[in-house]
Amino acid sequence: MIRFESVSKRFGPVQALDAVSLDIAPGERVALVGTNGSGKTTLLRALCGLLRVEGRVTVFGIDVQRQPEVALRSVACMPQVAPPLDAPVKELVAAVCALRSRKVARCVERAARLGLDLEAVARTRVRDLSGGTKQKLLAALALTAEAPVLVCDEPTANLDAASRGVFFEEVLARPANSILVLCSHRVDEVRHLVQRVVQLDEGRVVQDAALDAVQWEEADGKVVPLRKVQP
Ligand SMILES: Nc1ncnc2c1ncn2[C@@H]1O[C@H](COP(=O)(O)OP(=O)(O)OP(=O)(O)O)[C@@H](O)[C@H]1O
Ligand SMILES: [Mg+2]
Repeated sequence: MIRFESVSKRFGPVQALDAVSLDIAPGERVALVGTNGSGKTTLLRALCGLLRVEGRVTVFGIDVQRQPEVALRSVACMPQVAPPLDAPVKELVAAVCALRSRKVARCVERAARLGLDLEAVARTRVRDLSGGTKQKLLAALALTAEAPVLVCDEPTANLDAASRGVFFEEVLARPANSILVLCSHRVDEVRHLVQRVVQLDEGRVVQDAALDAVQWEEADGKVVPLRKVQP
């Protein structure tokens, strides 16, 4: 279970999150949707322990801010933007696999399925990879963690069609009680991956519904959310 309890975050004049409360049960796959700047990434960063917020975020009952080293063992995160690391790919892969007690070979296999030859880029600095290649690397690392909670922020925005299809298959092949929290503007991503959609607007939850009941429109393959915060 993931529980957000009245989570708020202000950046100067911007109220990025405004008393967000949300429960996500084991087995649920949830998409956060909303216009640019509605607070999706900020909420994910709070879940991944990357941001101090007011309120409380717990993962399987453990407070992410108080006991991050315990809570975050259950969480694998695929950020919206890869960190601009000087380290070569090989070092990052080795470090993440060591931290998660996973074999490097498993990561190499997953990367290959996503169309990334890790041997070929082993000595390349992470920051020098192309946008799509970075995303494949982040996906391979996040999936290799085999954590019960997978958090993905716009995971396929830069992927080609073939890799996107493989990514969907890999996410759906996770154990049935796994949790997925996805941020997305892409209709195909949301339709393939989740059963529940939560819409944020100006840092507040304005819609929380099953995929087939959610109110939205589509334009150019993108989600156009319909609900707005009431003034
Ligand atoms: N580190 C920061 N410093 C200042 N303002 C920030 C910071 N991070 C986010 N914000 C602001 O908080 C608001 C919410 O941002 P957030 O990144 O969560 O939006 P988002 O829903 O993920 O948008 P997008 O769809 O563009 O990714 C925005 O107004 C953004 O400018
Ligand atoms: Mg974002």
